[in-house]
Amino acid sequence: MGRWLVLGGTRFLSHAVAAGAVACGHEVTCVARGSSGPVPDGATLVVADRDVPGSLDALRGQRFDAVVEVARSLPWVREALAVVDAAHRTFVSTVSVYADPATPGQGVDAPLLAPREDGDYGAVKVASEEAVRAAHPDALIVRAGLICGPGDLSDRFGYWPARFARGGRAVIPDAPDQPLQIVDVRDLAAWIVDAGERGLGGTFDASGPRTTLGAVLDAIAAAVGAPDLVPVPVAPAALEAAGVAPWAGPRSLPLWLPATHVGIVARDTAPAAAAGLVCRPVAETARAALAHERALGPDRPRQAGLDPAEEATLVR
Ligand SMILES: NC(=O)c1ccc[n+]([C@@H]2O[C@H](COP(=O)([O-])OP(=O)(O)OC[C@H]3O[C@@H](n4cnc5c(N)ncnc54)[C@H](OP(=O)(O)O)[C@@H]3O)[C@@H](O)[C@H]2O)c1
Repeated sequence: MGRWLVLGGTRFLSHAVAAGAVACGHEVTCVARGSSGPVPDGATLVVADRDVPGSLDALRGQRFDAVVEVARSLPWVREALAVVDAAHRTFVSTVSVYADPATPGQGVDAPLLAPREDGDYGAVKVASEEAVRAAHPDALIVRAGLICGPGDLSDRFGYWPARFARGGRAVIPDAPDQPLQIVDVRDLAAWIVDAGERGLGGTFDASGPRTTLGAVLDAIAAAVGAPDLVPVPVAPAALEAAGVAPWAGPRSLPLWLPATHVGIVARDTAPAAAAGLVCRPVAETARAALAHERALGPDRPRQAGLDPAEEATLVR
């Protein structure tokens, strides 16, 4: 079994990757401040604040069989490349790297944003990808789509299982044909671990098969909806007029996207599927996301969605 380094490991995707690598019998080291939570059982945490130059010095000169990096900062990426040697390197990027977020069906050869040292998330990921590829031409670049499931604190997917489980009249966007594409954090992590073991290289749009907002909401409702749930479709124009935002954030209806952005959830993910990314049914993600919601408790501040008062006003 191999020596794995996960740069991260205390939350969501990188935690799931570290847990998956431990489960496969690898010796796993994680690097984080530890403020987001513990590393998985069986992994070792090296405490480091990567905003402090030299924070990775404890690892200097070490060689790992596989390194997985999730950084959103180019200096972090450069420092890890300089400090740690690896037989296989995975960089988790994003579908936000693309210049055209509107057109469905694009693949990894589509034009990218101009790389930037700092600022825009997607542009920094482009620059980070370039740095990783320059050092490791055979690296695996995982351009993740919308990651869902247990451990997600953004509420972009979790809002819907929580809302539908509460029942009653639930406002949904009247946009059933809107393209949508998601990936369960557990499936993405399992693929990243498997790919690291196989030495898979190349660049992939990593998300599930193309589907629609209507199909996803139907699947969530069927999986976890309360018996008295009544979805109330509201036209996008009426939602906009009422100040409801798409996609994420306060006073929003998550997963709903304007036509200018549906390309980010309608990418060609067939190459990732052919390379082994297996995606579970939406119903399973919905059940796990609901369990996560319930573990967090009903009264926590939410990152996305409508609160009951806002929704009641819209229904009226
Ligand atoms: N969520 C999505 O839908 C989505 C979509 C596309 C792509 N992605 C990509 O997927 C990856 C998600 O990674 P993730 O789930 O592991 O979450 P993340 O929010 O990117 O956090 C990753 C790790 O960074 C650590 N960290 C934060 N600040 C730090 C610091 N100053 N020094 C050292 N470590 C620090 C955190 O640990 P501590 O706080 O404990 O230090 C955590 O373990 C990212 O690459 C993201 O860009 C996400």
